[in-house]
Amino acid sequence: MSPCKLLLATVGVGVVVALCASSSSSAAQVIEHDFVGAERCKSCHEAEFAAWQISPHAKALEVLSPKEQKDPRCLQCHTLVPTDTQQSLGGVQCESCHGPGRHYTPEWVMRDAELAGLLNLVAKVDANACARCHSDSPSLRPFDFASSRVLIKHWKD
Ligand code: HEC
Ligand code: HEC
Ligand code: HEC
Ligand code: HEC
Repeated sequence: MSPCKLLLATVGVGVVVALCASSSSSAAQVIEHDFVGAERCKSCHEAEFAAWQISPHAKALEVLSPKEQKDPRCLQCHTLVPTDTQQSLGGVQCESCHGPGRHYTPEWVMRDAELAGLLNLVAKVDANACARCHSDSPSLRPFDFASSRVLIKHWKD
């Protein structure tokens, strides 16, 4: 079943029209407007937020100089929405790994794992998700998924 059809069955026509229609406008624009920021996740995931806030990811924009903070080459990996000239959602945020949250953050969606998955939530964040930024980073140390994963732990076992 296509995602649109499944949504039709689950939530009714209004939401389906809005969600399916959004795929026809510019992809980059839709993505940019689909991010809600870590503060929004904090309202329900306080423990995860606290762990993230003290991690290097939260400070990934701040470690850049003011000039570098406007350099698209650096922003690509050091912030949530590289194209945002204001950089109001700075750093590597929840949605850098879990996907843009606009559609999955309502509580009734979050409580339905399957629906949340259809609405962009990435629940299982694998090594490929990290590689997008870590495989080409300027580091001399090769990236090791297992040991790096432990360093950003904010989930239950
Ligand atoms: C209105 C409250 C609320 C908000 C806002 C919210 N969540 Fe959730 N989230 C939940 C609930 C409820 C669950 C279901 C599991 C649980 O009880 O913790 C959940 C589950 C999850 C899961 C685990 C999914 C799974 O299948 O294991 C992830 C990952 C997640 N949320 C990420 C986020 C991110 C990232 C944001 C912000 C973009 C966010 N959530 C915003 C309430 C919320
Ligand atoms: C492909 C993704 C990527 C790009 C592009 C990138 N970085 Fe990074 N950067 C990373 C990652 C991942 C780390 C952390 C791991 C490491 O050190 O390799 C990092 C670490 C850093 C650090 C060290 C931060 C600290 O706490 O010590 C600085 C400074 C930095 N980058 C600056 C830059 C600048 C300046 C640019 C643009 C010229 C840039 N980066 C472009 C991914 C990237
Ligand atoms: C650098 C990537 C990354 C960032 C940033 C990140 N997460 Fe996660 N998150 C993960 C990984 C990896 C897991 C473990 C998922 C798995 O492998 O099943 C996870 C798991 C979770 C879970 C599942 C919890 C459980 O106990 O099962 C929740 C909820 C969650 N993250 C919320 C958040 C929130 C909220 C933020 C921001 C405050 C955040 N994450 C930032 C990668 C990330
Ligand atoms: C959007 C780009 C991006 C993604 C995706 C990403 N990271 Fe990072 N990560 C960075 C940047 C940039 C830094 C450097 C931040 C700083 O030093 O302030 C960093 C730093 C780190 C660090 C601390 C420095 C180091 O290398 O030891 C760890 C650990 C880490 N990331 C683990 C992960 C893991 C695990 C994942 C996947 C689950 C992941 N990251 C996904 C960009 C990213």
